[in-house]
Amino acid sequence: MNKQFANDVKEGLSKTPKSLSSKYFYDEKGSALFSKIMKLPEYYLTDAEFEIFQKKAPEIIKLLGITSQKSFDLIELGAGDGYKTIELLKALDTLNFQYKYCPIDISAKALHQIEENIHQQIPNKKIDPKLGDYFHILHELKSSPLPKIVLFLGSNIGNMENVEANAFLSHLSENLSKDDKIILGADLKKSKDIVLPAYNDSQGLTSAFNLNLLSRINTELDADFNTELFVHTPMYDEQEGVAKSAIKSTVNQEVEIKVLDMKVAFKKEEQIHTEISRKYDDISIQNICLDTGLKIVGKITDSKNYFADYIIEKQ
Ligand code: AVI
Repeated sequence: MNKQFANDVKEGLSKTPKSLSSKYFYDEKGSALFSKIMKLPEYYLTDAEFEIFQKKAPEIIKLLGITSQKSFDLIELGAGDGYKTIELLKALDTLNFQYKYCPIDISAKALHQIEENIHQQIPNKKIDPKLGDYFHILHELKSSPLPKIVLFLGSNIGNMENVEANAFLSHLSENLSKDDKIILGADLKKSKDIVLPAYNDSQGLTSAFNLNLLSRINTELDADFNTELFVHTPMYDEQEGVAKSAIKSTVNQEVEIKVLDMKVAFKKEEQIHTEISRKYDDISIQNICLDTGLKIVGKITDSKNYFADYIIEKQ
């Protein structure tokens, strides 16, 4: 049993309002659903960032201030299938850059996938995948004398509250040396008509992704959530730029979680908060970089201005 998961579920469902952390979305079923979400027409984030890497790799390379004479380490946190990064690798290879690509992920399956995808698209490319916790591995890599470029794409930062994002960037900064760079993918603030469908797709995949958290509690903690009595509830606050997801109980009900020796009562319409997906502008990105020893040195957007990759430098 995953003790941390058990403790977090107990704490989250004992609070008012109730909450569950989005980090628990990604069991095998959740990860498979997220891969499908990324390919949905409504989920514009993937296409927008892919376009940046496909069409503007030379601009990214220029902003990174690298030359083909000096090698560097290219490290990716939570690389997924590498779909977008491969575009950057292809551009770097065409220009004869010397570098080591090191994707870090907690999922062995994701690392195999990325190796396979790279092998298919850039057959002779050797990569150095690392399985484990981002910061643990970054700390190990710190001793390398080569400059580092760290990729954190997909607006994964947006799933953190601002205080958490600021702490995350501070921690990242501590593991970098002066002039090292970060490429930070951030979904930009935009109208509700575009953002909300991305979190409420017509095929119901995002709903299944959110409700899978309850199925995970059923399987891992021997609970009796009836997922048909809960609904996925997405919201977007355009002013604040925050998309939020919740799971809403459609009836008054009680759920038993045997492993936690706990019964949880839900009122009709009561929500369990499950995820925030924050959207950014230059000021909010500057704010999460405050006091981290990091400075924004460039920004590249897609043609619709939906998404940005910020180039950030360690001071
Ligand atoms: C991983 N993360 C950036 C996604 C997002 O857009 O917040 C997770 C996701 N949640 C619902 N759909 C996708």
